[in-house]
Amino acid sequence: MASEQDAHEDETTESQGDETRLPPLWDTPRILGIELTNFLSYKRAHLELSDFTAIVGPNASGKSNAVKAFRLLRDIPTYGLPVALARHGGFDQLRHRSNGKPNDPAIKLHFAFDDAPPSFYEISLGSVSGKKYRVKSERALVNYGTRGDFVSFHSDGSRLSASERLNGPDDEIRSVVAPGQSALSTGSFASYVVQNTLRSIQTIEINPALVGALQDPSSTDEFDPAGSNTTSVFEALTQEERAQVTERLSAVVPGIVRIEPQNFADKQTLAFFQHTASGNRKFLAKQMSDGTLRAFAIMLAMTQKTQPQLVVIEEPEVAIHLGALQSLVEILKSSSSTTQVLITTHSADIIDEVPVDSLRVVWSDQEQSQLATVSEHTRSVLRSGMITPGALLRADALDPDFAA
Ligand SMILES: Nc1ncnc2c1ncn2[C@@H]1O[C@H](COP(=O)(O)OP(=O)(O)OP(=O)(O)O)[C@@H](O)[C@H]1O
Ligand SMILES: [Mg+2]
Repeated sequence: MASEQDAHEDETTESQGDETRLPPLWDTPRILGIELTNFLSYKRAHLELSDFTAIVGPNASGKSNAVKAFRLLRDIPTYGLPVALARHGGFDQLRHRSNGKPNDPAIKLHFAFDDAPPSFYEISLGSVSGKKYRVKSERALVNYGTRGDFVSFHSDGSRLSASERLNGPDDEIRSVVAPGQSALSTGSFASYVVQNTLRSIQTIEINPALVGALQDPSSTDEFDPAGSNTTSVFEALTQEERAQVTERLSAVVPGIVRIEPQNFADKQTLAFFQHTASGNRKFLAKQMSDGTLRAFAIMLAMTQKTQPQLVVIEEPEVAIHLGALQSLVEILKSSSSTTQVLITTHSADIIDEVPVDSLRVVWSDQEQSQLATVSEHTRSVLRSGMITPGALLRADALDPDFAA
């Protein structure tokens, strides 16, 4: 093993220089999927992601709960673990309960850089007394490059061990982690990469009232999931990017020709210029329809300056006219080659646009959510072309692979 590593190092010095072996501190990896253990309604589940993944299933089956896991992960580097948990109702709420007994939750995110082997980040929480929590363990392994390079860390909730050197053992950096805090902020190559990865997950929960309201100027161009800083995010775009958002929106809401930021004293909003029968008219965001504001915010989130690696959208069909839904899905699909998309949906029209391999079916069985791909039998029915996935969804016959 040691000699193999030496051979790699020799090769590097000769041909590429050391810098090519630094961990990918600025790149974001592809998100492969998420494993949930005792998280909300899930006892155990593995959600694998493709470019464009859609979760379907009955009401209260666990679709939003899977999305919440991504939101929680994204919130950890943004707010710190205690506040991230508080934003989700607190540790106790997140613990899976079947037969009333709470269990200790864990989330594991799988991701990968280019052709390197898969990497992961995992956090497990446990209870201390009553409803308080502790971090039971937190670890990450980041593989990168084509030469077997990696960095890693491991924490037991109070002590962190991390490699300071590439491919080094985990015991090189030792530091303490404050009780209840994540080790991600303690600083190591691996935690840096994981933070970047988690921050590249963008969840979208648009509140049209906030998109339409007069907004405070925001110094960050990071998209707020509710859409409360859309003016600032739009303002930060280049002319080409603004034109792209406008064009995409006009595919859903015909007639939109231009969008411009507008200032009102110390507040700001967006003005939408729309081609109508009586000529070009200007509307302020608050005059636009909820559906327009939702569609606009989704387009903006996909085009923001720091492009997310994964965009998670709950029920994108809400408030969108059926005839426009196809355009919205086309846009999401075409962007998904660069930004992965995960949606939950009840819409048969959307399902018809999603490849069957990218569908995930969620159902509830004995107070537990189950998640699986579409069954082989259903696939063969779909391959025959006699019926579409949407028609099966309407007939409640989109069967999951129960054995998976
Ligand atoms: N801690 C928990 N332990 C076990 N089950 C839970 C827990 N928290 C929530 N649930 C279950 O999860 C269900 C809600 O799931 P979720 O919100 O994901 O549904 P959904 O599939 O998004 O439904 P909809 O289509 O109506 O939005 C609740 O009805 C509840 O039964
Ligand atoms: Mg839901």
